[in-house]
Order: sequence, then C-alpha cells, then structure tokens
Amino acid sequence: MKVMSVVGARPNFMKVAPIIAAIQSHNERIVRGKGDRPAPEPISHILVHTGQHYDQRMSDSFFADLNLPIPDVHLGVGSGSHAAQTAEIMRKFEEVLTREKPDVMVVVGDVNSTLACALVASKISYDLSGARPLVAHVEAGLRSFDRSMPEEINRILTDQLADLLFVTEEDAVHNLTREGVPASKIHFTGNTMIDSLLACKEKAAASRILHRLGLGANGNHNGFGGSTMRYALLTLHRPANVDRRDTFLNILDGLDEAAKELPIIFPAHPRTQKRIAEFGLEHRLDWRQMQHKGGAVSSPNGAAGVHVTEPLGYLDFLWLMSNACLVVTDSGGIQEETTCLGVPCVTVRENTERPVTVTVGTNILAGVHKDGIRAAIRRQLNSKTSAAVPELWDGNSAARILDVLNREVRGRNSALVEAVVATSNIV
Ligand code: UD1
Repeated sequence: MKVMSVVGARPNFMKVAPIIAAIQSHNERIVRGKGDRPAPEPISHILVHTGQHYDQRMSDSFFADLNLPIPDVHLGVGSGSHAAQTAEIMRKFEEVLTREKPDVMVVVGDVNSTLACALVASKISYDLSGARPLVAHVEAGLRSFDRSMPEEINRILTDQLADLLFVTEEDAVHNLTREGVPASKIHFTGNTMIDSLLACKEKAAASRILHRLGLGANGNHNGFGGSTMRYALLTLHRPANVDRRDTFLNILDGLDEAAKELPIIFPAHPRTQKRIAEFGLEHRLDWRQMQHKGGAVSSPNGAAGVHVTEPLGYLDFLWLMSNACLVVTDSGGIQEETTCLGVPCVTVRENTERPVTVTVGTNILAGVHKDGIRAAIRRQLNSKTSAAVPELWDGNSAARILDVLNREVRGRNSALVEAVVATSNIV
C-alpha cells in the first residue's frame, strides 16, 4: 500500500505525526518478522507539505518536536487570498499526485490545504480506467454550524468528497449521518492530535519555557512533581476575533480583570501580531519577550499583565499549557488539548465544532463580549474542574486508522482483480 499524507498549516503537523509513526512501526514489525497473521505488506509513505505555513516558528520547529520526517515534496505555496492559496495548492498538488499515484491520500483537519488536496484527489484519473486514490479525512464531521468561518466550509466540502471519514467524537457521527454520508464510510477512531499529546508529554517536561518566562518554581504544585507560578495562557488568531479593531479590543477588555491578578502569556500568531501593530494596541500588552527573544533578562518574572511572545514550538507550548491554571483561546485544537490535560479552558467564540470539550471536558464557551469573557474566566478560576477524557482519546487512534486503511485498500484491490478476471472471462 502506498499512502500519501498532506500537511500545510500548524495544526496539521500534530494530527499527521502519529499516522506516520504508526506506519513506521507497522514496517518495523514486518522487518522483525513479528506478527501473528500472515506477513502483511509494507506501507510506503509520502509526506507532502503545501507550504501554507512557512515561518520557522509556524512550521519547521514542529517537525523537530514531533519527530516528523522531512517532507518528500514541498509545494512552497505560502500566503495569499483564500482563492489564490487554494488554487495554487491544487495546481501544484495535481502534478505530485499524477506522478506518485498513491492508493490512499490522507488529509487532516480543516485548513485550506485540506480541502484543496481532497478536491484534486477526488477528481483525478491515474489512467483511462479512472483509477484514483481513496481520500481519507482525519477529524471528519466536526461542525460549528457557522458558515462565516472558512474552516467550516473546508470541513463540509472535504467530508462530502472523502471516501473514508475518521471521526474524533460521537457528535461528528451524527453530523455526517444527517448530511447523508453512508455509515460504511464513517469510522470512529479517536483523536490523533491527542495521540501526539500523550506521546510527547514526557518529552515536553524537559522544556525550559517556564524558566525562560520567569514562571519557574514558586511554591504552586503543578501536578507534574514540580512547582510553578500561577499564570494563564492566551491564544487568539481567528479572523473574526482579530481582524476588527473593536472586536479585538473588546476581547482584551474581557481579559483585564485576570490580567490585573495574573501573568497571562500570549504567544501571538503572525496574523495577530500584524493586527496589533495595525490597530495600535501595543499599549495594552507587554512586549518585553518579543524585544529580547529568548533572554531570561526580559522575562515578565511573574508580573501581572498580558505578555506577548513569539509563536512557540510544540513541546514548549504543551508544557506551558499543562502547567497553566487557565487557558483562554479561540483555537479548535487547544480546546481538545486542555480537555485531555484537565486544564480549565475559556473559548472566546460563540460556537464550537468540538462540543465534547464542553459536555465532557474542561471547556466553557464565553462568546466574544467582554462581560461574558470576564464571567467565564471568573468561573473557571474559582471552580475545581472535574472533567473526563472523551471516548477513544487514548493515544491509539492512528493505529486504528491504519487498520481501516489496510482493510479498505485490500478490499478495493481484490474487487479490482475480480473485475479484471470477470472482464477477461467475457472476452
Ligand atoms: C490557518 C488556518 C486555520 C488554523 C491556523 C493555525 C485556513 C483557512 N486557516 O489560519 O484554520 O487554525 O492556520 O495557525 O486554512 N503567516 C505568516 N507566517 C506563516 C503563516 C502565515 O506570517 O508561516 C501570515 C500570513 O502572511 C497571513 C496570516 O499569517 O497574513 C494568515 O495566514 P493563513 O495561512 O492565511 O491563515 P491562518 O490565520 O494562519
């Protein structure tokens, strides 16, 4: 079997890494001759990076932290309008797919690269028979029911195109069923982003980020055998939250009570950094970390306020998140990661496509109005969270996905052989 997987933007890397690791261990098992059944076929894998995210801090550092192989193909697409970015990925990806002809093409999540590559793969013909790869969508079926989000459009369309839909939570199964996706295509396999988190948790504990930010030992036990200062972590990057000055300002107002009490660490996405400068919001934030990158002298040293840093690598961010007393975010993935870590989370959005993080996990939806944000933060800081980890978020999702891929490709190949035999009998 030949599998191609596609990454493009930051949240893709941790979702693909466990699938590649599962393929590697499948191949190692074959070499070692282990296995109870007849020797399975080795799996060849090709990693394609579209280049949607291209900065060292948004892309390269994640490859090292997650042990991802160097991409076999880099499309070098970069930024652009949604149409230009999607079109450029499609144009370049078609050449790669035509050349490599994988049996399965795996896309993850909901970014522009996900939809662009799914669309190409579902319409391609390798030969005159119309052969094409099976399109597998990992993290299928999530719905915010808010079509103003580009990610929602990407999710709906990718799911309509996919042949195999791997879902992370039960709600996603209902959403897909409601949209007419046959049950035979839907596989509830768990969450590969959580596979990465669990695989990297120990490694993350070696991160020096707490010391770099002056948040190290201070008497508060962090639940990992150490102690840290009490602090919160903030991320904001959704266009709906940061692309308008009044909305962005309103969110910062919602953080003001907590910012008087606690250090709030704010690793800012490039989009967000640009908007802060454009809207003249620098006076609301502490920029010392940005001015002296990595220098301990510049750390906020526990001072209250919102402290901006560059976007962080995966392990640093994971360690910072694990030790925080609160996370405030508009990201999708962080809602899931905080749920798995048992860290209280306030989501600065009107909706979530990940309802299990609210019903089972540690997440509260605060909306984007300052009063709602203040109230949700107060509630989270004062409550003792008693959350559970959602079903199948156990670190084994990628192995389950690989089992399905193996089975489906074997089934498709034997159906093809039978069809050829039937045709030759007629001749
Ligand atoms: C993309 C995804 C979003 C995901 C987010 C995580 C889509 C529609 N959106 O949004 O779902 O949550 O990634 O980060 O696919 N930029 C840089 N350096 C980079 C990448 C981007 O400076 O490495 C700048 C671009 O120039 C652009 C802005 O950041 O101005 C936005 O980048 P873009 O990839 O268009 O969307 P994101 O907001 O990152």
